[in-house]
Amino acid sequence: MEQYVIKGGNPLYGEVEIGGAKNAALAILAAAIMTDETVTIDNLPNVRDINVLLQAIQEIGAKVERVDVHKVKINGSFIREVSVDNEFIRKIRASYYLIGALLGKYRHAEVALPGGCDIGSRPIDLHIKGFRSMGATVEIEHGLVVAKTDRLVGTHIYLDKVSVGATINIMMAAAMAEGKTVIENAAKEPHVVDVANFLNSMGANIRGAGTDVIRIVGVEKLHKTEYSVIPDQIEAGTFMFAVAATGGDVLVKDVIPKHLEATTAKLLEVGCKVEEFDDAVRVISDGKLNHTQVTTLPYPGFPTDMQPQMAVLLGIAEGTSTVTESIFENRFKYVDELTRMGATIKVESNIAIITGVKKYSGARVNAPDLRAGAALVIAGLEADGITVVDDIYYIERGYEEFEKKLSKLGAQIEKVSDEKELQKFILKVS
Ligand code: EPZ
Repeated sequence: MEQYVIKGGNPLYGEVEIGGAKNAALAILAAAIMTDETVTIDNLPNVRDINVLLQAIQEIGAKVERVDVHKVKINGSFIREVSVDNEFIRKIRASYYLIGALLGKYRHAEVALPGGCDIGSRPIDLHIKGFRSMGATVEIEHGLVVAKTDRLVGTHIYLDKVSVGATINIMMAAAMAEGKTVIENAAKEPHVVDVANFLNSMGANIRGAGTDVIRIVGVEKLHKTEYSVIPDQIEAGTFMFAVAATGGDVLVKDVIPKHLEATTAKLLEVGCKVEEFDDAVRVISDGKLNHTQVTTLPYPGFPTDMQPQMAVLLGIAEGTSTVTESIFENRFKYVDELTRMGATIKVESNIAIITGVKKYSGARVNAPDLRAGAALVIAGLEADGITVVDDIYYIERGYEEFEKKLSKLGAQIEKVSDEKELQKFILKVS
């Protein structure tokens, strides 16, 4: 089993390039099979979840040509079945986008119920409600979501809860439905806008993405396009918070600063300096942090995907802070691990009350999910001594070459695959 081993204490300096947004790319790859013409997608992050989805669309017959690690050409004209199920696809969340894509194009989809990080119950009732109101029958049969209809008809859908996944999924199916669909209380995340832009570049007619009302007029056919995925705001935020925790001065490049506003605001509150450029942000930190309060909210609020990283920062900030998680009910699973590193955190319902300590102390910890895993790495970068992070499989779902990018900034971190390599690293750094 691979692990990250970290010798903490080095401030981070230099420049880091941010890759394409995983959660936008996953939806875009699914949407790419909706045309029979060849679609070229660039700025794909080379991470595990993306590769699982690419393999799944290949298995149902789509032609996938990897131009390079970040660029792919997809042709959906060879698709011969609408049933998607394998042991890998069952583990990722974004498999649900294949329901919207296949239902839109073929009026029939059979897709394994989605898995993903264990951060709460994660129902897909809103997706199903949307497809049903467009005329599809949707049943769960033998672990598959089976959606089919003769006619997919545009409709008016109100989402009871703001959901990124349901908004995008309904938008995809509606892009090829008959007539007009209106999605109210839609999610406004940058990746919702990116998927709408992608579909529009294929000839869809989607207006209002980025606001809470999206209007879609269905078209009969979509066509080829070339598209580049937006930068990953969560990867960027993770590096920004790493600099804040360790101290240092880093230029985070290839980002859209507007998408990072909530993250930047919190960094300023805790006492860091942040400079914005056209496509980069510079974070300067002396490692001394102030306490603050944060609540996760749908965009443009503070992202739930940055919540564990925020808690790690506040764990070494002066005074008492609170972190309120309002999106997922089970996103504090890292607290026990962070406590092993010396943090003082008490969780009451969906609020973590954090009393800052001077420093973390290195320990052996498990990554409980993707973002929490990245957060534990940040704690390890700041900690006294050696930290070993197990289960980095989760981290690799969403961060490309995480340890290499951090090493380039001066961190002492390595990926090791056995005890011998681990001891070798410890000898090297001590
Ligand atoms: C997406 O998950 C992301 N995943 C998550 O990223 C991210 O944390 C989340 O959006 C919020 O930004 C992908 O894009 C693949 P939601 P999703 O639907 O679509 C409830 C990461 O670390 N809800 O916006 O599953 C739900 O329980 C991951 O990259 C319903 O009740 O999130 C939650 O409370 C983890 N019924 C809220 O809505 C539904 O049918 C928001 O969930 C759908 C959602």
